[in-house]
Amino acid sequence: MKVLQVEHLCYSYHLGKQVLRDITFELESGNLLGITGTNGSGKTTLCYCLSGIIPHYLGGIMEGKVLINGRDTKEIPLGVIAREVGIIFQDPNLQIMMPTVEDELAFGLENRGITPALIRERIYEAMELVGIIKLKDENPVHLSGGEKQLVAIAAALALEPEIIIFDESLSMLDEAAQNRIISVMERLNKIGKTLILVEHTPKALKLAKKILVMEDGKIIT
Ligand SMILES: Nc1ncnc2c1ncn2[C@@H]1O[C@H](COP(=O)(O)OP(=O)(O)OP(=O)(O)O)[C@@H](O)[C@H]1O
Ligand SMILES: [Mg+2]
Repeated sequence: MKVLQVEHLCYSYHLGKQVLRDITFELESGNLLGITGTNGSGKTTLCYCLSGIIPHYLGGIMEGKVLINGRDTKEIPLGVIAREVGIIFQDPNLQIMMPTVEDELAFGLENRGITPALIRERIYEAMELVGIIKLKDENPVHLSGGEKQLVAIAAALALEPEIIIFDESLSMLDEAAQNRIISVMERLNKIGKTLILVEHTPKALKLAKKILVMEDGKIIT
């Protein structure tokens, strides 16, 4: 089954030049897609389109379609898309809002009608997977870039979306944390999650079953 279909997607930030140009691809459930390409080629912008941030949050001019499980992202509210697609941003500072790591992880779950006991179970499981239990009482703002990235990964995992997008999530991590996250990615994929990895590091893209290479807003291979 197709979880994601992108059809002739074009995008320009408000009044800017076109940064995505006629992107078409589709992804089967449980696949692991790698996206690579030079700086400025449009990878992050594509991630915003796949997660509904474009057009719901960033505006700009979007043409073509992105379908998540057959539904057009233009027609589903961002909150509903977020239940199906999780994204870990390239800049973890964009994602951090709460005064402690534990609160940060609980935040996304609290308005989903889940019991406090289940919330606790899910956030501890996510912290354990990513290896950040020891940071649970820290203020995320005061963590290092790599630690913030790990918090953002755990927060996304706690929400248990079907599709997870990692936008250069490994770039700020040391070797040990990279290996930990790569093994989390493998595990998630094994249990049927669909993953999209945007990376410059060939090491992370080794996991990918299919790789798209972007250049100047287009898929070149
Ligand atoms: N908020 C914005 N407003 C206007 N233009 C933007 C904005 N964000 C990105 N761009 C432009 O869109 C193009 C694609 O940027 P994008 O961040 O998608 O590239 P990228 O492939 O993720 O690059 P990197 O490898 O550096 O992360 C760039 O030319 C960039 O200048
Ligand atoms: Mg980027």
